[in-house]
Amino acid sequence: MTDFIPKLTAQYFQLVELQQLALPPGHVIIQPAVQAALYERMFNENAVFPIPPDSYRSRVLKQIISRIEESITNPEEDEINDDLMESWSTLVSQPKPSALQQAQQLSLVKYTAPTSSAGISSECTVITSESRGLILSAGTTGNRTWEAALHLGSFLASKAGEALVRGKRVIELGAGTGFLSLLCARHLGVRSVVVTDREPMLIDNIRDCVKHNLNGLPSIPIYPAVWEWGTPLAKEGNLAGLGSDEGEEGTGLRFDVALGADLIYDTDLVPILLSTVRDLFENYHIKEFIIASTVRNENTFRTFLNACETNSFAAEALPFESTQPEDQTGFFHSTSIPIRTYRISRAK
Ligand SMILES: C[S@@+](CC[C@H](N)C(=O)[O-])C[C@H]1O[C@@H](n2cnc3c(N)ncnc32)[C@H](O)[C@@H]1O
Repeated sequence: MTDFIPKLTAQYFQLVELQQLALPPGHVIIQPAVQAALYERMFNENAVFPIPPDSYRSRVLKQIISRIEESITNPEEDEINDDLMESWSTLVSQPKPSALQQAQQLSLVKYTAPTSSAGISSECTVITSESRGLILSAGTTGNRTWEAALHLGSFLASKAGEALVRGKRVIELGAGTGFLSLLCARHLGVRSVVVTDREPMLIDNIRDCVKHNLNGLPSIPIYPAVWEWGTPLAKEGNLAGLGSDEGEEGTGLRFDVALGADLIYDTDLVPILLSTVRDLFENYHIKEFIIASTVRNENTFRTFLNACETNSFAAEALPFESTQPEDQTGFFHSTSIPIRTYRISRAK
């Protein structure tokens, strides 16, 4: 029993698509203790946080109840947990938002790290605020966390990945929901992480989400800032105090490592991204840029690698493969399109 519930629960709070949910098999889900645990950990509104959107909860609960019904072999003894049934009747009696309202709704999404993650506690979670229905809204694709970010998050949560950021001054480019920076700030022991995107609305969302990721800590070292590539990133406002403990005040911002996920989806973006990366090496002192990319178009990705070479950067592929979806235990994501991770550094 115990193996099935943590995975299903983690998928549920990540709002994983129904077809991918790992429901317990019939002989397990029929057990009263399993059903009680599913209610407590997924549907008891007084005990869980965040509560997924009603439409998603009702679809998942419908699947669970159907699975239980199919598994009844002895109608005299086998039964469906009363609390699950009560949750079901409450959910189906709720007014249904329109498809557009559902698509625009912002939801808190909780991501749980893979259980194999080294060096971090078993309850390593990151909460973001997302609008999954809006793939492209107000000119940005940053309203959801993309597969490349979940892939890079899985890598950073491994021993080799964590070593790249622990104790470091990190900056994330085009952060979208801020998933990677929140992971770094809460669980990977970074000295600081400046989380940036050009969309002020996304940066406001990230700022709001920080409180959901504290888990008892008074604060975490994350600094959200609006930043459009190709413009200077000033040491002011939220970033003014960065580094001041070491007498660096007034000397400009310094970072050790930059992170980026799913930034190479359009050849038109490559020149500005590359000039920003050059700027980060020359003026903000980074030593490496770790980038994960879903390779939807080989030519676009090749354009990026060629531009690295032209700009005298070495692009080294990091040997990290995503686990196949059926074997994933956290940071669930599709692997149907290849995702590659590179370390960009100055060519020797
Ligand atoms: C495909 S999303 C990836 C978001 C996030 N890194 C992830 O993987 O989930 C690309 C992000 O890059 C940001 N972006 C695109 N062009 C940008 C630019 N010129 N300056 C800053 N951010 C940019 C977008 O606003 C968007 O949030």
